Amino acid sequence: MHPGSSNTSSLRTVEWKNDKVVMIDQTKLPNELVFVQFGNYAQVADAIKTLVVRGAPAIGVSGAFGLALAALQSTASTKEDLLSDLEKAKDVLFSTRPTAVNLGWGLDKIMTVAKTGNTIEQIKELVISTAKKMADEDIEINKAMGKNGSVLFDNNDTIMTHCNAGALATVAYGTALGVIRATKESGKHVRIIATETRPVQQGSRLTAFELKHDGFDVRLIPDTAVGYSMANGLVNKVVVGADRIVKTGHVFNKIGTYQIATMAKQHGIPFYVAAPLSTIDLENRADDVIIEMREGSEVTGVGGKKTAPEGIDVINPAFDMTPPELLSGIITEKGVATAPYVESIPKLFAAN
Ligand code: MRU
Repeated sequence: MHPGSSNTSSLRTVEWKNDKVVMIDQTKLPNELVFVQFGNYAQVADAIKTLVVRGAPAIGVSGAFGLALAALQSTASTKEDLLSDLEKAKDVLFSTRPTAVNLGWGLDKIMTVAKTGNTIEQIKELVISTAKKMADEDIEINKAMGKNGSVLFDNNDTIMTHCNAGALATVAYGTALGVIRATKESGKHVRIIATETRPVQQGSRLTAFELKHDGFDVRLIPDTAVGYSMANGLVNKVVVGADRIVKTGHVFNKIGTYQIATMAKQHGIPFYVAAPLSTIDLENRADDVIIEMREGSEVTGVGGKKTAPEGIDVINPAFDMTPPELLSGIITEKGVATAPYVESIPKLFAAN
């Protein structure tokens, strides 16, 4: 199917259909809108690892669907053996990407529910229905988050965003782009500046595609033009997503986010993060979070063509950490947290 032939905002990035997991293959965007279908949890793990599906909430739900497939695949004849098969599948799925906390959150949620089942049939039914419910809830959460964030944006704002925190990073609607969608739905006119987001180009391949396709006024800039855009008054506000936020308000998001937040501070531009409570990690400290390091080949070439000398050593972190002093607020489905985050974040959970 050609990307122009259907509306991305009405599509689900990942869904459960006829006992299979169906996903948009994001590695093919923006040139082709291709759906892939998996009946085996190992295929889902591979899809997460290779960025067929990416974005923190989307991989959280994909992990849950992976366990639903593992439940169906299991030939165990006792409850204990089925739970052990699920634990093995959980380990495989969990090992795919280390930074987004939503993956572990989705897997743990399914395992907790699975353990409450009394029979094999009941466990399988519980695992599948819980994963489907998580997918449906993701959309509702994003809409609530969007509404909470929309009041922070004004008519005629130009909003910068980085990476893709849109419908394609979630089941649908998006987190940061959900806030932008809700702002537009509230009747305000907004323009968007999307950064290219080297090296995997989620900004140009996914955000620019998604927003342009849905009729937004969006312009694309190279990552290197963030300072220029801010210094020349082209941007009023920034909103990005997050892969993990710890209770001190340190935000882990796509590489380059820290540079944008620092530059926004320099120019007095509000910098917001939009993420569901499932992205907030109350257990770990900022120092404990593992930053995924990806293949050097993502940096040494573009579109299969080499752009760096053979044998060059590469540093390719997929994420960075933005400290809380650079944030104007964290937008969630339960409200907007502001500094000091050690106080405001627990209040959001208490409102749950
Ligand atoms: O490597 P990716 O594409 O999975 O990284 C995604 C991001 O960093 C997004 O900005 C983040 O997950 C927020 S998605 C709602």
